[in-house]
Amino acid sequence: MKKIKFYEIAKINKNYENNFIKNFKRINKGGRYILGKNVNIFEKKLADYCNAKYCVAVGNCVDAMKITFMAYKIMGSMKDGDEVLVPANTYIASILGITSVNLKPVFVEPEYDTFNISVANIKKLISKKTKAILAVDLYGRPADLFEIKRIIKKKNIKLVEDAAQSLGAKIKNKMVGSVSDATCFSFFPGKNLGAFGDAGAITTNDKNLFDILKSLRNYGEDVFDNLKDRKYKNTFKGVNSRMDEIQAAVLVDKLRNFNYLQSKRKKIAKFYLNNIKNNKILLPEVNKNFDHGWHLFVIRCKSRNRLKNYLQKKNIETMIHYPIPPHKQKAFSELNKRRFYVTEKITKEILSLPIFPTLTKFETKRIVNTLNSFK
Ligand SMILES: Cc1ncc(COP(=O)(O)O)c(C=O)c1O
Repeated sequence: MKKIKFYEIAKINKNYENNFIKNFKRINKGGRYILGKNVNIFEKKLADYCNAKYCVAVGNCVDAMKITFMAYKIMGSMKDGDEVLVPANTYIASILGITSVNLKPVFVEPEYDTFNISVANIKKLISKKTKAILAVDLYGRPADLFEIKRIIKKKNIKLVEDAAQSLGAKIKNKMVGSVSDATCFSFFPGKNLGAFGDAGAITTNDKNLFDILKSLRNYGEDVFDNLKDRKYKNTFKGVNSRMDEIQAAVLVDKLRNFNYLQSKRKKIAKFYLNNIKNNKILLPEVNKNFDHGWHLFVIRCKSRNRLKNYLQKKNIETMIHYPIPPHKQKAFSELNKRRFYVTEKITKEILSLPIFPTLTKFETKRIVNTLNSFK
């Protein structure tokens, strides 16, 4: 049997090759490679897509989170040592986005069913030191953003969203990117909207935050549109996290048919949800208020390793997101003795199935049949 890969990025990107070459030639002719016209266009288009007022394009998502927190410090909303509540079962980048700017991550157990940060647990852990919640839309399912907003209302706590995996998802019919105080996106090549390299962005409705973010991504320099207006004046201690013109052009091109690609992911997810029938396998929770972005389709199984090996023998590639939670990583050795039971249980049971726009009906059926015959 032919191998079913977990993701076929080259096949998906083949459709964009010709435009990529055209854009490359056009950009080379224009002679501006970083933070130019294409970046401006992408920022406008992404803000429109998400129904947000402002967008700042940056180098990647961990930088997006990092400079968002830096900006909030400049604005006086938080200071070194303040606490940020974050789910314990996230990708390590969420945690590094907090620790890299001298804030303290406070790990919150997720809900077992949704994989996302538990609002009940947030309530238990909020203290005077809490200055932000970093909600992660894990696997593409929005976190319970409106509930989180409700409990932090009037508390001077910011809601920052790690939407690295959830572009295109909705919550109560509102686009991800339009709900939180700041929403951070990743366009890492493997994401639903993937660049041909690293890229990221922040959307917000806060003009003050937007102005500071625009400056911070470029060494904290005062913002200029035309090179002739550049003054080399730096108001903030910023970073270099600029999007380049080629990535911006790729993303503008890909955003055009993004909804179509999302509909393909949705169709595959629906097929899995309706047809995987095996009492050893738990399917992801669906809820009409949460329009899932289906970056990943994650099932649970008590015999996960055996299931993974079984699928591998049948030539079906799967992955685990993530096999080691942040508190068990060597990088955070100071946390290794902490226990997060829900997170650790999830880590042992999860398995990500192939879900990408070019996966064929035949392949999807084969995956379902193989899962259903697992004993
Ligand atoms: C949940 C989550 N947060 C953050 C990131 C980091 O994104 P980037 O690689 O663009 O910094 C990722 C990327 O894998 C992610 O999945």
